[in-house]
Amino acid sequence: MKILYTFIPCVLFVLCSCTPERNKDRSSVDARIDSLISIMTLDEKVGQLTLYTSDLDVTGAHIRKGYLDDLKAGKVGAIFNAIGADYTRKLQQISVDETRLGIPLLFGYDVVHGYKTIFPIPLGETASWDLTAMELSARISAEEASSVGLHWTFAPMVDVSRDPRWGRIMEGAGEDTYLGTQAAIARVKGFQGDDLAASNTVLACVKHFAAYGAAQAGRDYNTVDISERSLREDYLPPFKAAIDAGVGSIMTSFNEYDGVPATGNRFLLTDILQKEWGFTGFVVTDYTSIMEMVQHGIAADTLSATRLSFDAGVDMDMQSGFFEDKLGILVKEKVVSEESINNAVRKVLKKKYALGLFEDPYRYSNAAREKETLMKPEFLEAARDIARKSIVLLKNNKQTLPLPKSVKRIAVIGPLANSTNDLLGAWSGQGEGKNCISLLAGIQAAGAGTVVYAKGCNINDDSLQYIAESVKVARTADVVVLALGEAAWMSGEAASRANIELPGVQQKLADEIFKTGKPVVVVLMNGRPLAIPDLDKKADAILETWFLGTQAGHAIADVLFGDYNPSGKLPVSFPISVGQVPVYYNQKSTGRPFDATNKYTSKYLDVGNEPLYPFGYGLSYTQFDYGEITLSKHEMATGDTLTVRCVISNVGQMDGKEVVQLYVRDLVGSVTRPVKELIGFQKIMIKAGESKELTFEITAGDLSFYRLDMTYGAEPGNFQVFVGGNSRDTKASAFSLK
Ligand code: GLC
Repeated sequence: MKILYTFIPCVLFVLCSCTPERNKDRSSVDARIDSLISIMTLDEKVGQLTLYTSDLDVTGAHIRKGYLDDLKAGKVGAIFNAIGADYTRKLQQISVDETRLGIPLLFGYDVVHGYKTIFPIPLGETASWDLTAMELSARISAEEASSVGLHWTFAPMVDVSRDPRWGRIMEGAGEDTYLGTQAAIARVKGFQGDDLAASNTVLACVKHFAAYGAAQAGRDYNTVDISERSLREDYLPPFKAAIDAGVGSIMTSFNEYDGVPATGNRFLLTDILQKEWGFTGFVVTDYTSIMEMVQHGIAADTLSATRLSFDAGVDMDMQSGFFEDKLGILVKEKVVSEESINNAVRKVLKKKYALGLFEDPYRYSNAAREKETLMKPEFLEAARDIARKSIVLLKNNKQTLPLPKSVKRIAVIGPLANSTNDLLGAWSGQGEGKNCISLLAGIQAAGAGTVVYAKGCNINDDSLQYIAESVKVARTADVVVLALGEAAWMSGEAASRANIELPGVQQKLADEIFKTGKPVVVVLMNGRPLAIPDLDKKADAILETWFLGTQAGHAIADVLFGDYNPSGKLPVSFPISVGQVPVYYNQKSTGRPFDATNKYTSKYLDVGNEPLYPFGYGLSYTQFDYGEITLSKHEMATGDTLTVRCVISNVGQMDGKEVVQLYVRDLVGSVTRPVKELIGFQKIMIKAGESKELTFEITAGDLSFYRLDMTYGAEPGNFQVFVGGNSRDTKASAFSLK
């Protein structure tokens, strides 16, 4: 043992002496890591592939007791839900000082849309269509997370979803693959920055691989049964983009794909992720999902679940403890090679090394830095700005909005009018309601007239007791701001809803308020698209505000009173009825596309095919006119670039930002193609009375898809091109690809 202790410090010394910034030479890093692996026992190697939750927070079904004993035995390489400079330092000291090799721990946490300063839920933030804003919120989230001892965030979640019943639609970038791809890149860059060894960046973990958002019936954890073509066309591109952007880890999803749970799916984790894409980071499972393969019925017992997942390409076991219990046995029985274990360990150690943990295991656990970093004024200002940009104006009849500051009396009514915790949304890290600005507080702070409040009703019960009082309050006001929507717990994980209308008796409250005849501005606060056709008919104005986070109230007030001209656009279609779901803009034509004059076409007897609000939709306090599209040519060869030009004019009275969207349609393909596909967008400021000419460039790459033979590329033929402020109202032109 003495020799080992003599030998070990010098190995760790050698490993630590080459700090990431001083030794860019990969081979020397590899050599040092291999030196460490060469002296690790099998148990210690498996320990590096084992991730347990701390007892501070639990985000899954159960917590494994006794993880501290495993930690001291060198059987734990990473811990999640351990937060705070002091607590992480304490755990790190155990790993560094009390285990045989002193390998530093990796600390992970779900910093999805903020750690302490909470930003809009990702679906809402994506409504900003502002990639700089998305990167900034991830950057600030990493600043705060890394100041409390965290090295690794389980984000960004990039699951495309076309089903508002699914609670986790709040966590991603909505229904469109292209927008989701751009958001994934921005968020990975924000979290990881340019240097993982910097003490203010964190390792990102793109999730959930793969196609988790395609759960049947929108029911969380449910079966995913889609074609490989749809998997590759619709669900994988954001993951590939995240990997090309350098994401260092990826998390498997709970669902099965093509009959095999993702956590044991070799096609996903090895064939695509490693062989096709060359992913060099490590693969971590989702919470106990190795164990859940027994429940799936793909593994008869712990041993076979362990073997299946490891052989498929999993490197790290989150919380099931199956690797700790069984991986060593599989090696001893020569079912799994020790070299394959070494390969997995190498991937994990490389990220610990890249984070600078071997040089200074306590680099991120700095109490002074934690104190000075969390909720800095500039972070709060950024949160307010990003929240403003995420708000979508859905309706504004008779220019009800913006409200004049001279308004005498405003009634702020509704179950979410004075809420704070709910405005943080799901997956809100260590955000606290006490730091969150409610809508009521935001309006009061805006300094307009007299503000009166009434609760109206509860969010989700059948009590009518508050309605009469609220109607009375409404009658005394010049305008009513009616805050309706969901509680935070009604979206997020394990929060699917079969009915996506307003919960409880909120519609009844709204009806009674509408009857007063007062101008009513509905402020929606929700984690998913809601079916609100009645609100759309009766409200004078509607703002979609999602869950905007810590600065919600101020951001909404900024828009209500015109201090910010709303510029958000929907990243997901809003159905008229849940019966339309899935309803999304890039549908296929079918052989019998809707025709109101022909019974035998694709439609419903009781509701239209179109959503209430389409993908990409959002109004402004000003008006934008789109000129005709001009093309640099109408015939392009494969190697050409086609330039699309369009002049957009601000014909209103207010400066405003517009998200100009570019779509194409491939009219004939070797497989059917969507009626529209987003391939580009630009968010631009246009001053009142001014015009701007925008140009987009189209190449054959933008027209590529998985053809009949599953090769990826464009096909010659005729195309339509569309430019507009949403996916429905567009200017069109045409060109052909030779
Ligand atoms: C949860 C979620 C996953 C999260 C993990 C750790 O079940 O599915 O997104 O990162 O567990 O909290």
